[in-house]
Amino acid sequence: MNKRIGILTSGGDCPGLNMAIRAVVSHATLTYDWDVVGIPYATQGLLECKATTLNLHGLDLHGIDPLLSMGGTILGSINKGDTLDQAEKILAGYQALNLDALIAIGGDGSLAILRELASQGHWNLVAIPKTIDNDVAFTERSIGFDTAVNTITDALNRLTFTAASHDRVMVVEVMGRTAGHLALQAGIAGGADIILIPEIPYSLSKICQHLKEMRDKWNRKFALIVVAEGTKTETGDISSYTDSLGEVRLRGIGQYITEQISACSNEQVDTRLTILGHVQRGGIPSAWDRIIAATFGKMAVDLVAQEKFDHMVTWSNGSVASISLEEVISQSPISVASQSGFVQTARALGIYVGESQ
Ligand code: F6P
Repeated sequence: MNKRIGILTSGGDCPGLNMAIRAVVSHATLTYDWDVVGIPYATQGLLECKATTLNLHGLDLHGIDPLLSMGGTILGSINKGDTLDQAEKILAGYQALNLDALIAIGGDGSLAILRELASQGHWNLVAIPKTIDNDVAFTERSIGFDTAVNTITDALNRLTFTAASHDRVMVVEVMGRTAGHLALQAGIAGGADIILIPEIPYSLSKICQHLKEMRDKWNRKFALIVVAEGTKTETGDISSYTDSLGEVRLRGIGQYITEQISACSNEQVDTRLTILGHVQRGGIPSAWDRIIAATFGKMAVDLVAQEKFDHMVTWSNGSVASISLEEVISQSPISVASQSGFVQTARALGIYVGESQ
């Protein structure tokens, strides 16, 4: 039976979204002969009752597939929290678009909002996880994480040489919200000496001691410190600011660590701060993000075919699967376990990762 399915991207963008969109269109049209419509700017598109027909020919450029390597999302996205206030209009928009099912690509925050709308409007919802934070429960991978890890690793490689040339301590603040997956994995890959993440408390005096030991014992006169944006100060305060739209944004822990380290030793420590910011959300999707995105897109379409709604596709133990959205939302966001394998790996490499209980 012919179906008309909608697809949207919600929350912060990341590399790999276009590949997932491409895979959904490809599988839905080639395998099932369904129609796919793209909904622009997530719930905003539903509210305004907007949709564009997506077909393979329309996505190509003279036979070339530009979506493979394009970051961002061709559908646009929104990352605002007041969506549920407009629920009635969004539900009316969904009805008017005459959809048989909706595939939503989002992080835990936006998927929770969409699930609430889906239950109010009796939508047939299937979800695909994406976020550079990699903190969605029950999936080892979310679209975008691998590319962001590569981007941070590349930045650390570049900073190593300027740090070494000037005997400096480079502090690098990275994203991740309340989770330290990005900081921890990129810090290991990029040769960090110290990794600070929200999940593990640290001591400033231990950081200073570690830097001193590096100099005195190993003759390492420079250092790289990766700090996740959600890491608290030593006394437990969150560093954040409220932007012009009234949204609270994490920012400032890198500055705090930089200032504390500059002051921590008798000898002057020359310290510089780099805040990587939204560079981490950009770039050409890595091969792994493309593979995950394609696999998730294909699986999401199959879930619609099986009428397995209110589910999210997952990557677990090396294969694709699915789980109920209710479970995902109740367990997300997923933090780094203080004794996780990656924390132990970092410590085995001599990296200071704070004081696990
Ligand atoms: O959730 C992804 C993320 O990039 C976080 O790591 C970061 O805190 C946040 O989004 C930034 O959001 P925005 O793009 O709205 O500034």
